[in-house]
Amino acid sequence: MEISIILGTRPEIIKMSPVIRELENKGLDYFILHTGQHYSYNLDKIFFEDLELSEPKYNLDVGSGTHAEETGKMLMGIEKVLNEEKPDVVLVEGDTNTVLAGALAATKLHIKVGHVEAGLRSYDRTMPEEINRVLTDHVSDYLFAPTVKARENLLREGIEEDKIFVTGNTIVDAVYQNLEIARRKVDILKKLNLNHEGYFLVTVHRQENVDVKERLKGILEGLRLLYRRFGLPIIYPIHPRAMKRIKEFGLEVPKGVELIEPLGFLEFLQLEANAKLVLTDSGGVQEETCILNVPCVTLRDNTERPETLEIGSNVLVGVNQNKILEGVNTMLIKERDWNNPFGDGKAGERIVGIIKGG
Ligand code: UD1
Ligand code: UDP
Repeated sequence: MEISIILGTRPEIIKMSPVIRELENKGLDYFILHTGQHYSYNLDKIFFEDLELSEPKYNLDVGSGTHAEETGKMLMGIEKVLNEEKPDVVLVEGDTNTVLAGALAATKLHIKVGHVEAGLRSYDRTMPEEINRVLTDHVSDYLFAPTVKARENLLREGIEEDKIFVTGNTIVDAVYQNLEIARRKVDILKKLNLNHEGYFLVTVHRQENVDVKERLKGILEGLRLLYRRFGLPIIYPIHPRAMKRIKEFGLEVPKGVELIEPLGFLEFLQLEANAKLVLTDSGGVQEETCILNVPCVTLRDNTERPETLEIGSNVLVGVNQNKILEGVNTMLIKERDWNNPFGDGKAGERIVGIIKGG
């Protein structure tokens, strides 16, 4: 049996790494096809290095573009590789354009598709990720739902029960596998001159936030209030999309906010684990803070990770400056005693076991 792992962006490399590790451990035949959706060193190669993954066999170098440009180029490139390699199963992870293109190209060639992190729903069709998730789930043969809630979402949409497997989220595996390695290999607090719980961490990159001037401005104003209230450094490893928009919109970065280049996984994980609180619009970061017992404030109007709201590791505040500060205050007085709902760190093993067995 040959397995093709199709990936293309930062979170896919991170969340697919436990599956790849398991394929290696079991000595199974696989190859990595990288679409090249992310290509900057610190959104791409750094993760192959940090997570000690072998180089992709193929890189389509698709690069950036509109949704149609990215997806169209990927479809053509992926089809060509799949026709040459003829794998038995294609695995994709998450909700990016790469995921949709991988799933669509494979299913049209009658290759089985496994969707890792299936069944997440924000029920907000203005998000490109929501479209990608729904379409990918509906052409997949194996739906690896991270939680029971994700499974229920799929069942409600009429997806057959025997295609759905609740495996946990591979991000738990990735956090467990790399936290100790990070402790040994990197010291980001020293590098940035920070103390344990003596700073806030921010990541904001999502299209609906950074491409809309008023929303991005609201977030920056929220950070201004945050610094005024606490006087603690606010560290923001900034995604290039957000950096581009701040410049384009001529927005001012408030005092106390330290923009730094995006970090590798080991340094970022360490920075997250030691933060007083994290403010984010990232999907993966909502999960990781939950796993690390670090409070999270989500700068969005909805989330496809409702488990984090239910157990109290996260609050949704949108982009209004006062709501942002309120959310921080709420989260800071809470006990950090929730249990992670995303699994036991063995999702990678389960996923590979299921594919091998089927
Ligand atoms: C994509 C995903 C998003 C995911 C994010 C992870 C889609 C629709 N969006 O968003 O779900 O959360 O990745 O980080 O698939 N750029 C660079 N270097 C790169 C890649 C991008 O500078 O290596 C810049 C370019 O200006 C580009 C912009 O970022 O135009 C957006 O890149 P794109 O891949 O289209 O979307 P992301 O915002 O990264
Ligand atoms: N991340 C990282 N360096 C950074 C910012 C984020 O390694 O500077 C990691 C983070 O640990 C998480 C993943 O990137 O695992 C989240 O990716 P992103 O926020 O880009 O995408 P999303 O999860 O929202 O799709």
